[in-house]
Amino acid sequence: MRGIWAVFFLGVCASLHVVASPIPKQEYRARRDELRKNLDGTLVLFGYTEGRDQVYRVPQDRDFLYLTGWTEPGAVVLITHDGETLFVPHRNAHAETFMGKRADASDADAREVTGFQQVAPIEKLEPALMEAIGTAEKVYSEPESPAAQKLEKLLALRKISASAPMIAKLRMKKSPAEIEAIRHTTNVSMDAHRAAWKRLAGGVSEYQAAATFTATLLEEGCAGHSYSPIFGSGPNSTVLHYSANNRRMDAGEVIVIDAAAECDEYASDITRTLPVGGKFTARQRELYNYVLGAQKAVLAAVKPGVEISSLTKIAKDYLHQFKDADGTTMDKYLPHGVSHHVGLDVHDATGPGPLQAGMVITVEPGIYIPKENIGIRIEDTVLVTDNGVELLSGALPREPEEVEKALAR
Ligand code: GLY
Ligand code: MN
Repeated sequence: MRGIWAVFFLGVCASLHVVASPIPKQEYRARRDELRKNLDGTLVLFGYTEGRDQVYRVPQDRDFLYLTGWTEPGAVVLITHDGETLFVPHRNAHAETFMGKRADASDADAREVTGFQQVAPIEKLEPALMEAIGTAEKVYSEPESPAAQKLEKLLALRKISASAPMIAKLRMKKSPAEIEAIRHTTNVSMDAHRAAWKRLAGGVSEYQAAATFTATLLEEGCAGHSYSPIFGSGPNSTVLHYSANNRRMDAGEVIVIDAAAECDEYASDITRTLPVGGKFTARQRELYNYVLGAQKAVLAAVKPGVEISSLTKIAKDYLHQFKDADGTTMDKYLPHGVSHHVGLDVHDATGPGPLQAGMVITVEPGIYIPKENIGIRIEDTVLVTDNGVELLSGALPREPEEVEKALAR
């Protein structure tokens, strides 16, 4: 019984303390208008549906969120050349008891709260869709999603084309409001890194440092992490997406901390590699400086017109100059790409075409040498500007001496 009341109480709190989204409603409308300019058919996107048990948070589909800003479950958006409608489920008093008030198409303020000129009950979707596709050859949706499979049954004689590429084209270039949202997430993430660094010492478990990271981002009002936080010490530093975070670290090792908050639905992505105990060994510092040099080489190359796919080669070419005792060149220890877009997703929507001002990407070279139990990755989230980059996470120390100084405080 207590559990049920706790859920009820949480639902009420959530509805009473709605925090304003950093993205204004009219921006979602502008995104849909932009999409419509090149739309050669009908777009149908299905928002998330609630599972059997509402206590489990289900994230909104990212393309749906990008175009609508709508976070209530069970909605569908239909966009044609000349119109757009948000379809929402009927009011469900039982669900509202648990989850707080939700919109219904018959509400007097339905247009105002959704930002759509047309809001309709969900059963109107089928006839509206039939009418729309009667005059349009192509139907765009997300063919992989379970909801779109229902669509395929309904429209058995039509091919459903993927909507992702045309939405990715819009998502790649961030608006000023999105850049501010990512900047905020990045600032919180840097605070969380600094707090976690204070926990680093021999005998401390990876999860204890991770707990401090999480506490900090929650304290600063963010909902959670952009991705599973990686706190990999010693041998775990060489495992790219290690996330068990259950080993006790020892002084003299390095720890790779690859972690970021998610605030207001926007991600960031930051990695630092730190010496447990406060000082890099000579070998750790040597390897660290190779990675830092590679990162600087890539950062110097990022500007509008450059292909994101060309950046990994720049890092590899830089690392190729340096050799191990057995003659292995350092680029052999870099097994991953060094750059991806960041936005609503940490690995954000991506498509063809060169970088443009307003895009936000990571620069994240690394080298991983399991036989030495040393992995090093340095990752910053950066904004592409008219003539180069702004390091959004640049205030977090990267130079080895600055890292050691920060750990000594
Ligand atoms: N920071 C995790 C990744 O980009 O894969
Ligand atoms: Mn990354």
